[in-house]
Amino acid sequence: MVQGELPSIPRHVAIIMDGNGRWANERGLPRTVGHSKGVEAVRRTVEAAGDAGIEFLTLFAFSSENWSRPQEEVSVLMGLLRRFIRRDLAELHRSNVRIRVIGERDGLQGDILPLLLEAEETTCNNTGLTLIIAFNYGARDEIARAVRRLSVEVEAGRLKAADVTPDLIAAHLDTAGIPDPDLIIRTSGEERLSNFLLWQAAYSEFVFVPQYWPDFNRELFYEAIRTFSARDRRFGGLSPVAPAAVAG
Ligand code: FPP
Repeated sequence: MVQGELPSIPRHVAIIMDGNGRWANERGLPRTVGHSKGVEAVRRTVEAAGDAGIEFLTLFAFSSENWSRPQEEVSVLMGLLRRFIRRDLAELHRSNVRIRVIGERDGLQGDILPLLLEAEETTCNNTGLTLIIAFNYGARDEIARAVRRLSVEVEAGRLKAADVTPDLIAAHLDTAGIPDPDLIIRTSGEERLSNFLLWQAAYSEFVFVPQYWPDFNRELFYEAIRTFSARDRRFGGLSPVAPAAVAG
């Protein structure tokens, strides 16, 4: 039923979940309440993505720059991610969701990394929606790590510099094997990429939604997909020419 309403479904949707703090400020609430409400929006969005037949959903949960936020806010965000995995993993697994995590893993403290690994391992054979959690993620850092790995190969003589192609770089990014996002959504009215998927966004369509993330819901999600469906994606080429114009 859902798919019938949506003309063309993007394979991969990536979302910058922005505006939790402003949502809370406008209600005279602590910013952290906005983040808690944001987790509810995450649950709604994952469910709506699965129902729509989207194959890959990437959520920008915590950027490598977010560590500079006040310690209290950082620990609330860690707590929410922890609780999300502890409470929702079984249900996501039952729903055939596969979880993947992108971002820098080295240096992560405490139980966060083991939890993320458990989520990946538990769901690794699932065949439904792939939920990609971008955690401790920054695109420039991701590209630098890929370049470092390739440089090691060149230094060791296993790879020639001349053989470094865009495909080879892509295969060394955290997103190796995942198709590039067709659609990137950012909530809260901000219109920038903020170091998210810089390489992968080369031909993505962008939809900016004015609502804050805690208010994001199925209706706004499908509206963004309808906007995407109406776009003319040319990937640097030309639109198919109408037959009359060819004849003329
Ligand atoms: C942006 O709002 C949001 C974040 C930095 C974190 C997003 C995290 C969650 C929704 C919760 C945890 C995620 C998962 C996957 C369980 P902001 O604080 O930058 O808002 P502002 O721009 O209004 O200040």
